[in-house]
Amino acid sequence: MLTNDQLDRFDRENFFHPSTHLAQHARGESASRIVKTGKGVFIEDRDGKKLLDAFGGLYCVNVGYGQESIIEAIAEQAKELAYYHAYAGHGTEAAINLAKMVIDRAPEHMSKVYFGLSGSDANETNIKLVWYYNNILGRPEKKKIISRWRGYHGSGLMTGSLTGLPGFQRKFDLPLERVFHTEAPYYYRRKDLAMSESDFVAYCVAELEHRIEREGADTIAAFIGEPVLGTGGLVPPPEGYWEAISAVLEKHDILLIADEVVTGFGRLGTMFGSAHFGLKPDLITIAKGLTSAYAPLSGSIVSEKMWKVLEQGTDENGPIGHGWTYSAHPIGAAAGVANLKLIDELGLVKNAGETGAYFRAAMKDALGDHVHVGDVRGEGMLLAVEFVKDRESRTFFDPEEKIGYKLAAALLSEGVIARAMPEGDILGYAPPLCLTREEADQIVAATKKAVTTVLG
Ligand SMILES: Cc1ncc(COP(=O)(O)O)c(C=O)c1O
Repeated sequence: MLTNDQLDRFDRENFFHPSTHLAQHARGESASRIVKTGKGVFIEDRDGKKLLDAFGGLYCVNVGYGQESIIEAIAEQAKELAYYHAYAGHGTEAAINLAKMVIDRAPEHMSKVYFGLSGSDANETNIKLVWYYNNILGRPEKKKIISRWRGYHGSGLMTGSLTGLPGFQRKFDLPLERVFHTEAPYYYRRKDLAMSESDFVAYCVAELEHRIEREGADTIAAFIGEPVLGTGGLVPPPEGYWEAISAVLEKHDILLIADEVVTGFGRLGTMFGSAHFGLKPDLITIAKGLTSAYAPLSGSIVSEKMWKVLEQGTDENGPIGHGWTYSAHPIGAAAGVANLKLIDELGLVKNAGETGAYFRAAMKDALGDHVHVGDVRGEGMLLAVEFVKDRESRTFFDPEEKIGYKLAAALLSEGVIARAMPEGDILGYAPPLCLTREEADQIVAATKKAVTTVLG
């Protein structure tokens, strides 16, 4: 077995890490961690350090680490049949079972699910389906996609374009044509502090209407949004936002893609964020919680309305020219079946709502009055604490001070992993949905200590 020093050297010499400062990592100037094992909400690294993972990996390990039933399902599937493709009507029992389980859980009007591997590729699929749909309907001009500032939809060519965070586009020649961004539903960061929540919703709607008018509704195919903004700051929408936005989209015959990569399968305390906010999407993107990341798998859930047009398209043009070698991979599908069963057996959707509310209330109690805490917000098992230089005037810290990163580092020293969200000084929490109240208390106490260490 390699020593930790050897592993560290080989890592820095050979391994190209995603979302990492490449030069600092290669020079050995930045921290690294080699993770060895995990159980429940805890992970353990190669140095034997045990950490409470309050971000569930990348908000994906929803059932917690080390769940035997999923591990066994993966092993069984690998023994029986590790791979077969899904092209030209082929399938496996696991993939068919999972498709049924997903459609049974999805909103009523959803019809079929296509399986991919990552949230990014599922969103790429969705945009292709939207374009195909409008071509079949004889509307070749209706192709532009509206996304939102601070939205996160992946880091491919199209999905990196949809993502509304500059760090994912800079120097990559993104965004591509046909994509534009509208206002983020982020009330705490509204430009005009005098605006009420309902004024702000009206402002978001007016911005959208204005942009649609400028571009021409007959050139716009779809709007994509996360029910609750994720990587952009973990921001629940203001009251009435989705209702008002949906009405605008309907009026202009613009499809809605609900990106539920984070919110799907229980994170908000409901099976889907679409149901949570009363959305009627044409496509739903799923990934992370589908398998709790025990194996890579994602999906595009297609509504009945779109499905009919896709069928018409293949009647007119032959088989759909879209697919990956690993679409509906049996090992991912087996993990998905076992994972969705476990979510039901353990009552994790309910726990996400109840323990999530307890966690949020405890965090508010502990930190809500701190002079540098501007906002404590969340929904279900998503929680964010936003830090400001001055709360009264809502003055933000200079980004150069890197307060968010310092807080996350201090929290790590207390044995808890939270995420310094990329834009702003925001600590984000998205623990496994099996979090207990005692574990929530532990996160809150550690956060309080970290805040005292960094900000006094
Ligand atoms: C809402 C949302 N959509 C899409 C993605 C992309 O998923 P992946 O990283 O699996 O490509 C993410 C990843 O965090 C996400 O949060």
